[in-house]
Amino acid sequence: MNRNSFFQMLKELNPQEIAAHSVLNHHVEGMNYLCLHRSPKLTVKLYFIDPARIDKTPGSMLVTPHTHRYAFESTVLTGQLIHETFREGVDSDHDRFVYAPETKMRLGTGSVGLWQRSVNTHIARTNTDSYWVDTDEIHNLIVPDRPVLLGLVQFADVLPTSTVYLRKGTEMVFPQSRETSPVEAWALRNQALKMMEVA
Ligand SMILES: [Fe+2]
Repeated sequence: MNRNSFFQMLKELNPQEIAAHSVLNHHVEGMNYLCLHRSPKLTVKLYFIDPARIDKTPGSMLVTPHTHRYAFESTVLTGQLIHETFREGVDSDHDRFVYAPETKMRLGTGSVGLWQRSVNTHIARTNTDSYWVDTDEIHNLIVPDRPVLLGLVQFADVLPTSTVYLRKGTEMVFPQSRETSPVEAWALRNQALKMMEVA
């Protein structure tokens, strides 16, 4: 979906409808998302990735490598973002877990290595601005050095769980996530419009 469609959906948002599905501190302290549309088959949302708000160094991994239960398309709407994919390898420097995000249930399924398969920079307003992630893709994002607005078109869950990979000796960190109020969701909507207008 291109930036015009995201922009139009932003302008047409009803704050009462979106607040229940938008989240502050999603996966990472300081990373927020705004839901533009949610249905059983399709979800459209925006991620705000601002290095000034995230307690991680630009150039480091945003989260730990993982898979998703659903396929999705990502479009970089402002700024630029590095997307990495991985394959499991023969080393054993990571612990692999089956993971259920709703309950934070995590079940160890062995030790594996991770080999970088691809690393791509996606830049807003160019022909590299979007990428596709299927359910068999192990991936991660790199913390950018400038704010990024990322648009996602997410299809239905086709798997019951996802997979996360933790480098041995590290732990998953869970931020204080919570749903937005209608006022907070509206502020995110206005912030996204402003970011897209000046980009
Ligand atoms: Fe992901």
